[in-house]
Amino acid sequence: MAKELRVGVVGCGFMGRAHSNAYRRLNNFFPVEHRAVLKVICDSELAKARKFVEVWGYERAESDWREMVEAPDIDLVDICVPNIAHRDIALAAAANGKMVCCEKPLAMNVAQAEEMAAAVEKAGVANMVWFNYRRVPSIALAKQIIDEGRIGRPFHYRATYLQDWTISPDVPQGGDALWRLDLSVAGSGVTGDLLAHSIDTAMWLNGPITRVVAKTETFVKERVHAVSGKVQPVGIDDACMFLAEFSNGSMGTFESTRYARGRKNFNTLELNGAGGSVYFDLEEPEYLQFFEYQQLQSGKKAESHLTGWRKIHTTNSEHPYMKHYWVPGTCIGYEHTFLNALADFVMGIESGQPTQPDFRNAVETQKVCDAVIESARTGQWVATGVKL
Ligand SMILES: NC(=O)c1ccc[n+]([C@@H]2O[C@H](COP(=O)([O-])OP(=O)(O)OC[C@H]3O[C@@H](n4cnc5c(N)ncnc54)[C@H](O)[C@@H]3O)[C@@H](O)[C@H]2O)c1
Repeated sequence: MAKELRVGVVGCGFMGRAHSNAYRRLNNFFPVEHRAVLKVICDSELAKARKFVEVWGYERAESDWREMVEAPDIDLVDICVPNIAHRDIALAAAANGKMVCCEKPLAMNVAQAEEMAAAVEKAGVANMVWFNYRRVPSIALAKQIIDEGRIGRPFHYRATYLQDWTISPDVPQGGDALWRLDLSVAGSGVTGDLLAHSIDTAMWLNGPITRVVAKTETFVKERVHAVSGKVQPVGIDDACMFLAEFSNGSMGTFESTRYARGRKNFNTLELNGAGGSVYFDLEEPEYLQFFEYQQLQSGKKAESHLTGWRKIHTTNSEHPYMKHYWVPGTCIGYEHTFLNALADFVMGIESGQPTQPDFRNAVETQKVCDAVIESARTGQWVATGVKL
């Protein structure tokens, strides 16, 4: 008989939906020993949690996460609330011996992130941070290509993460989704919200970032706060650009903004090395682009009048995760990145080889985020202190 993985999710917003979907579908697609059971859904607005009981099939709804983390019939606490609440919930869940999965960014800052990593380690509980872009099959294929040595000596890493939804000065700060504009709830602006993803992926693919120099900008200086109703200063970074040095000697550029008109969730990465390059664009997630300069086996130059960027449709059963889905040539979507992450987490529990990124790994991403904000404040290069 399958073992039960009894889940309590806190937060009924965007991520609450994405994760609920993953729990619901885990056993439809992945042959894991555990069966996900949706026990408790919690939201400070009880009506939302009740709706989730109806729509997603949770057994019960609660409004106080403190009760949920103590419930004896929960094995895993999953944190899908704004960043300000991650720490307290994670510490309480770990203290109660629960496994903990937490949305990104792990915390408001490095100090909190370290505390959270120490707490799950002390409790000896399985843990994961939902950096779901690692689970896009095309990005996982980029990792495979890099690890196979096909890119050779890396020179440049280039990441962009662009949106356009905060251009209007009439967009308030505070409240559902808009908490991202409130520094006291988000911890930072696009740096923690968007670039944390880019940084996690970059360090997974290309190793530690050692130093950064950054420039941030806040284009709209004051906004009405949805909760207080008052006009308040805006403390977040609306846009951030930074240069990075990697420990492998390559250099990186990272750009993020919510002021790129027309860009909705434009998330790209490119790595250029002596032997080849890879390029990914989330608007065409089923493709990985690969340029092969040098053949891996022979070491001979592959470039000729016939070569060019290869657009690999990552839908074959040989491609990461794809054997669990449909026939070759048919695509999966955004929601599957969470399903893939969950499957990796559960397989990690079952194999005793914990999946990454865990809290400790996500502390390193947080270090880069904090260094970026510090550099933007001082105008100086800042060492990240990343240890991977
Ligand atoms: N992995 C990703 O790609 C991704 C995408 C979006 C958001 N996120 C992260 O997920 C988290 C949640 O973001 P979201 O977009 O789902 O937010 P959201 O605003 O859509 O939903 C947050 C929900 O949490 C509830 N809530 C707030 N404080 C609470 C508390 N103390 N106790 C119980 N419920 C509370 C709110 O009522 C709301 O229903 C954030 O950390 C965010 O950075 C990650």
